[in-house]
Amino acid sequence: MLDLSLCKDLLNLGDLEVKYMGRKGEFTEQLKKIAELSLEEKKTTGKLANEIKRELDKKFSDLRDSLYNEGTYNMSIDPTLPGKQIIGGHLHPLSQVQYELEDLFVSMGFMVLDGPELESDFYNFEALNIPPHHPARDMQDTFYIDKKNKEGELDLVMRTQTSSVQVRAMRKYGAPLRCVIPGRTFRCEATDARHEHTFYQVEGIMLDENVNMVNMKSVLETLVKSLYGQETQLRLRPKFYPFVEPGSNIEVTCFLCQGAGCRVCKHSGWLEVGGCGMVHPNVLRAGNVNPDKHQGFAFGFGLTRLTMLKYGITDIRYLQSDDMRFLGQF
Ligand code: DAH
Repeated sequence: MLDLSLCKDLLNLGDLEVKYMGRKGEFTEQLKKIAELSLEEKKTTGKLANEIKRELDKKFSDLRDSLYNEGTYNMSIDPTLPGKQIIGGHLHPLSQVQYELEDLFVSMGFMVLDGPELESDFYNFEALNIPPHHPARDMQDTFYIDKKNKEGELDLVMRTQTSSVQVRAMRKYGAPLRCVIPGRTFRCEATDARHEHTFYQVEGIMLDENVNMVNMKSVLETLVKSLYGQETQLRLRPKFYPFVEPGSNIEVTCFLCQGAGCRVCKHSGWLEVGGCGMVHPNVLRAGNVNPDKHQGFAFGFGLTRLTMLKYGITDIRYLQSDDMRFLGQF
C-alpha cells in the first residue's frame, strides 16, 4: 500500500480507489478468483479477503477524511474566485412612480381604480362633454377601431385619456367619491423624443358636498412636493378642458433650474405636468350624480411626463424600448 502513503490529494485518492477497489480494480479481480477455489480454500481465503477489504475500505475513508480536513484537495475549482453575480430584476421606472403616487393617494383616502384601454367613444369623449363635432377632439388624435357596436355605430377608440374612467367610476360608486386611475393611453402621434403613441396618465377625481378649488390645490401641492421635493412650487393657470369649469393647467417649478429659467423649461421656470378643474355639471349628470348636491375636482397628470421629469429622462422612447442599458439605471 505504498501508493496510499504517497497519495496527496482527493483526486489522486479517487484514482487509487478505482485502481484497486473499482469494479475492475486489482483487488476486486483477486476477489473474483476466490470463486474458482475449492470449498475448503474458499472458507479460509474468503474470510481473509473480507478482512483485508474491510481494512482497505477503512484506510481509504480515513485518508479521505484527513485530506478533507487538511483542505489539501486539489480539485479543478478555485474557491477564492469571486462568485457570479446574479442580477435581480426591479420595477420599471414608470411603475415605481405609479406605485409611489398610489401610496400617497391611498393615504389621503382615495381608491385606486382601473378601466378599459379599448374604450367607447361615449366614455372617452361624449360623457366628458365632448360631443362628436367638438373641436377639442382635434387635440387628441385618436385610434378609432374599425368595429361597430350593437347599434351599428363605429364606437370604439383606444382611450386617449384616463379621464374616460371618471364617468364609469361615478356610475359605479356614486358620490361622495375619491379615486385615482393610473393607466395606459394612446394617441395617433408621430413619434419623436417628446411624443409617443402609447403613454401613461394618472387621473383623479374627488366629489363631495363641499369640495372646492382650495381642496384641489392642496391635494395637487401635496402630490408635486412628495414627488419633486418640498421646495417645489405649484402654479395653476386657466386653461380650457371641456369636462371642467373652471379649468386650469398644472405647472411645477422646473426641477433643473429651480425656477430660474433654462433650456428644459424654455426659460419660463415652469413645467406643465397636467390639467385640472372643477368637474362640469354635464359630466356629473352623465355619471348620475346630482350637480346641485355634489361637486368636486378632477385632475389628470402625464405619468410618463412626471417620470421623465423626476429622473431627467430626455427621450420618451427609452421608456418603451426594453433596453437593459437604460432600465438598469433605476
Ligand atoms: N385628460 C386631460 C388630457 O389628457 C388631462 C386633464 C385635464 C384631466 C383636466 C382632468 C382635468 O381630469 O380636469 O390632456
